[in-house]
Amino acid sequence: MTPGIRPLIAGNWKMHGSLREAVRLAEALRGGVPGVDLLICPPNVHVHSVAVAMLGSRVAVGAQDCHAALQGAHTGDVSAAMLRDAGATHVILGHSERRANHAEDDTTVCGKTEAALAAGLIPIVCVGETEAERLAGHAESVVTRQLEGSIPYGFVTAGGIVAYEPVWAIGTGRTPTEEEVAAIHDTMREALVDRFGPAARTTRLLYGGSVKPANAAGIFALPDVDGALVGGASLVAADFLAIARAMPE
Ligand code: 13P
Repeated sequence: MTPGIRPLIAGNWKMHGSLREAVRLAEALRGGVPGVDLLICPPNVHVHSVAVAMLGSRVAVGAQDCHAALQGAHTGDVSAAMLRDAGATHVILGHSERRANHAEDDTTVCGKTEAALAAGLIPIVCVGETEAERLAGHAESVVTRQLEGSIPYGFVTAGGIVAYEPVWAIGTGRTPTEEEVAAIHDTMREALVDRFGPAARTTRLLYGGSVKPANAAGIFALPDVDGALVGGASLVAADFLAIARAMPE
């Protein structure tokens, strides 16, 4: 963790669960964890009901994607303002599943991030290398390039968040070594400070990829790791809370 940054544990529920299950899972998290901010990102269609269920709680609600345009002829898409209106405060953007499955490149992600900022949503921009890129020794250059291309002006002052999610660690049970995580987070911090100045010293940098109660404490002890973006383990309330409780006080 970084001194002076309040940690954030965010759950990315991806495309899982019914509306009833989403509300029930959210309610199980209602009490929160002292000293840690909790955020849950249900499927976009469940955002409003979950946000209503979480009113007055310590848990924020976010979305998993938005369109870059304010409005228009975009069948099936959802704008950042619509998500804000539905009760979201955050939105995950540029997740590797969207980069891979929906051909989103850095320019696309940057446009969506600008739209999120314009609507008053806090963007969580995801970056991360594939296994082939890591094996070729390119992890740091890939992450640096993605950061440069995906993050617009105004991101840091608006409280934008970055999540490092190595593609090969997502849903696989495999994680980088603690040294590898620390090296990438240091690279990200310095790249952001170079570009945005000292304000980026308080930008939250999350790690994501097979975070579980068993490995969370080791990851959270690393410098410049200010929380986690959790997939599978965020679908089990006890596991999500155990991960949040693993954050050092
Ligand atoms: P897992 O925690 O299931 O590996 O997923 C990570 C992720 O993609 C969060 O956005």
